[in-house]
Amino acid sequence: MKPDGVERGLVGEIISRLERKQLRIVAAELRTIDVPTATRHYAEHEGKPFFEGLVSFITRGPAMVMVVEGPSDTWRVVRTLMGTTDPKDSPPGTIRGDLAIEMAQNLIHGSDSLESAQREIAIFFPSLV
Ligand code: RTP
Ligand code: MG
Repeated sequence: MKPDGVERGLVGEIISRLERKQLRIVAAELRTIDVPTATRHYAEHEGKPFFEGLVSFITRGPAMVMVVEGPSDTWRVVRTLMGTTDPKDSPPGTIRGDLAIEMAQNLIHGSDSLESAQREIAIFFPSLV
């Protein structure tokens, strides 16, 4: 959960949506992400016009960093619950579609593949790997 979700008091709302889907929380910590970690996490976007804004946004206050698990394809389940990157295109019923409006403050990150999930868990919770 990105800093806007924590600032807006939506931690419970968003965790609740994950839990209602039957995903299980494996690790969770309220943590202010530092710039080197954010840069590593979003390395695929380095050099893009929105990169600096993205890093300063994601580091501006505490994020709720979480690993969740489910029976299979959990990264895909989470992405479906999240909705699309731009909340304006995200359908009602999704986290971004219901609760966000700006692409730069879209509440939640989710790994976009099994490989990304493994890479990102190693960044944020190395003891789990
Ligand atoms: P995330 O990684 O944060 O879960 O978001 P995502 O997969 O839905 O989208 P991604 O393409 O990975 O982009 C990461 C974040 O960068 C911002 N963004 N801005 N054209 C733009 O201005 C632009 N494109 C992406 C968004 O905040 C997006 O969540
Ligand atoms: Mg992404």
